[in-house]
Amino acid sequence: MSQEIAKLEIEGKIIEIPVITGSEGEKALDIKKLRAETGYITLDNGFVNTGSCTSAITFLNGEKGILRYRGYPIEQIAEKSNFLEVAYLLNFGKLPNSKEFDFWQEKVTSFATLPEGITNIIDQFPKDSHPMGVVASVVSSLAAFYPEFLDAPLDSVQRERATAQLMAQVKIIAAYFYRRTIGKAPHRSHPSLGFSKDFLNMMFYEEGKEIDDDVAHALDVLFMLHADHEQNCSASTVRVIGSSQANVFAAISGGIDALWGQLHGGANQRVLEMLEEIQNAGGDYKKFIEKAKDKNDSFRLMGFGHRVYKNFDPRALIIKKQCDIVLEKLNIQDPLLDIARGLEEEARKDDYFVSRNLYPNVDFYSGIIYKALGIPTDMFTVMFVLGRLPGWLAQWKEMKEDVAFKIARPRQIYIGERERDYVPMKERK
Ligand code: CMC
Repeated sequence: MSQEIAKLEIEGKIIEIPVITGSEGEKALDIKKLRAETGYITLDNGFVNTGSCTSAITFLNGEKGILRYRGYPIEQIAEKSNFLEVAYLLNFGKLPNSKEFDFWQEKVTSFATLPEGITNIIDQFPKDSHPMGVVASVVSSLAAFYPEFLDAPLDSVQRERATAQLMAQVKIIAAYFYRRTIGKAPHRSHPSLGFSKDFLNMMFYEEGKEIDDDVAHALDVLFMLHADHEQNCSASTVRVIGSSQANVFAAISGGIDALWGQLHGGANQRVLEMLEEIQNAGGDYKKFIEKAKDKNDSFRLMGFGHRVYKNFDPRALIIKKQCDIVLEKLNIQDPLLDIARGLEEEARKDDYFVSRNLYPNVDFYSGIIYKALGIPTDMFTVMFVLGRLPGWLAQWKEMKEDVAFKIARPRQIYIGERERDYVPMKERK
């Protein structure tokens, strides 16, 4: 098939721009030669319409509310898969057969204890540290304890081992720090319980108490829904850091820090804080809708809106259902859920939100589930980290395996002072 070409007229000259077409028919203009041919660059604040790579991991269509991992619809994944299998799917491109899955599980299990030096580091953090800072720092520190993985960017066997190691250890780091904050001895990882049950067991272990299978399953569903979301802020951060051949721990640690912001993963903590604020102010959520619409007020309805989903977030629909299941199972009546439902109902009728396509996103109901599970509010974004980890690893791996990959180095349009002469201090006004 002949190459499709778009034409652009700049300063009277016609420039031919190759068109790239994805497997779902999405089109892009390949502008890499634009500057060399015309002196122009493209300017796109916030990368609203810029593709940074081609990728075969996740497809999403924000207008139609579609999300697929390696072609499989998120609805089927959430119903039929499990988180560790999803991690395999994202990283290795296919659903594993039972032998492959056992082998993958064994590999992850082989990293089920933290080096003593790492637990010593965690013990030094003040107990009131924000867990996101702790997890990001400790993941970065792993580089000192696994020097053999510093070459992983260039070595496929080490890449696979580092992936299994992080899948095993990030959740242990999170649970270890939590137990420390509540003054309890750490509880060791038992990977045979399954990813989510093992995590909940490490967090909440008490003699004679068992983690409920349905509750662990609900958390597994949440993790699967968070597992990848193509070139979002944190995944792009992982790619940008990894593009310099920095080690995998540096790249993932950077992704964790990017996720922390309240416009990204940090929104789940802020949603719960917002619901509590509304509750403490007497529960009048309509007042907060008005605040969110007021352009002189910096308040935003947290958990609403999305850069890409402009119709609905398919993950939010599934999470809302899981929320009902968990609260019923645990026999919890949470008044925050009524406030959340009221906010959603009100916003869906309001022209401000409707005209801007602002709908509940993945973070809107997830906090209510985490709260019901007993997860402290400042750990909500850590839960997002655990869910997103396999996606970051898959994005990093895909980039490393792409023979054409280049160091990320965007350009800019300079708008500062033009050349001027240095003035000695005594002559300055
Ligand atoms: N509440 C009130 N107004 C909003 C909101 C909101 N939550 N989100 C967007 N708007 C308005 C915004 O003021 C702007 O209005 P106008 O056109 O009059 O200036 C318009 O909607 C477009 O907003 P934007 O900020 O240009 O859109 P964006 O694509 O740059 O931002 C967003 C997307 C998710 C950062 C934004 O919707 C937001 O801040 N939401 C709240 C934070 C949140 O829930 N983040 C989690 C995102 S999902 C999880 C993840 O992937 O990280």
